[in-house]
Amino acid sequence: MKILVTGGLGYIGSHTCVALLDEGYDVVIADDLSNSRREVLGRIAEITGKTPAFYELDVIEYSKMAELFEKERPDGVIHFAGYKSVPESVEKPLKYYSNNVGTTLILCDMMQKYGTRHMIFSSSATVYGDNEIPYREDMVLRPATNPYGRTKAMSEDIIRDFVSSASGRKVPCSAVLLRYFNPVGAHESGLIGEDPNGIPGNLMPYIQRVAAGKLPYLNVYGNDYPTPDGTGVRDYIHVMDLAEAHVAALRKLEELAKAEGSADATPTGVVSTDKNSHAENTCLVYNIGTGRGTSVLELVAAFERATGIHIERQIAPRRPGDLPEYYADSSLAQKELNWNPKRSLDDICKDAWKFQQNIKEN
Ligand code: WQD
Repeated sequence: MKILVTGGLGYIGSHTCVALLDEGYDVVIADDLSNSRREVLGRIAEITGKTPAFYELDVIEYSKMAELFEKERPDGVIHFAGYKSVPESVEKPLKYYSNNVGTTLILCDMMQKYGTRHMIFSSSATVYGDNEIPYREDMVLRPATNPYGRTKAMSEDIIRDFVSSASGRKVPCSAVLLRYFNPVGAHESGLIGEDPNGIPGNLMPYIQRVAAGKLPYLNVYGNDYPTPDGTGVRDYIHVMDLAEAHVAALRKLEELAKAEGSADATPTGVVSTDKNSHAENTCLVYNIGTGRGTSVLELVAAFERATGIHIERQIAPRRPGDLPEYYADSSLAQKELNWNPKRSLDDICKDAWKFQQNIKEN
């Protein structure tokens, strides 16, 4: 089966390509290199022994996408390509709506034109906003007060409506929306990992650079939250556990296609309670997290234990828009996708540090 991975040279995309190739899938990557490096393609080949076909393009470019689909005819698409900075989305909302929502529309159009049956979408816990914790898939969404979160919620709605309309088309299609919590860490080889351009906005890459002596200290954004140690609590999941969840989601979509027309099919968009009660033209949604909350200071301490490196830190004012605490109820993914996060905080910190030591420029 051939899978198109948009944003496949990026952080989560590249790790997912490794997991797909290791499982025997054919992989085609489309990436505009706006937040990734072409050398990652060679690293993926070094890890897996296979080199995916690579198209340097922006998914928003309709004619180039049509050429790609005409030539490659992918059976499925995993859509990672998108901007992901919350503060930047507040500053430049139109850039986020046109890119994040626009690329989703183009991919659905291509899937319909070229008969692609499977879609996995990179969504985010940020769609829940200020809901009670742990977050559950059946909650009413309150996309965080930022355009980034709203582009994810809008894309989910577009995909859900697109899939449900497939029942009127000759080629069925189904989708899985994966709501990520906080992806961190790196592949165990140390060859790929999180290496954002410029000063990192996210916690773990910032810690990595402090450990490498490239930044003087970590700013702890607030220690007066209503949490056990006063610092923000999140659900940090190893990026390879997250990558493997995409393979599990693909297996689920293949299972749907095989069970097409099963008697006990569930209508589109209904979150089922029984792992085998879905049919084609279904849009499923799952939280991909560990179900465990970890504070900023707990993650720093775990990194120090795992690496033996002291992380200098200073308490700074809260970051606007940050929620005090959130983490996943990921029991539905564990039950219906037969997926379980396997790696610990110690694995996360060791793998992140191993990768950081391989980085030259940043
Ligand atoms: C984690 C915690 C900060 C940096 C974001 C996006 C989300 C998703 C993951 C794409 C918070 C604290 C951080 C620092 C700190 N991205 N922190 N010092 O904000 O939970 O989620 O990335 O899908 O959509 O919103 O991640 O790593 O920025 O922050 O104290 O230098 O670390 O306050 O409590 P966040 P983060």
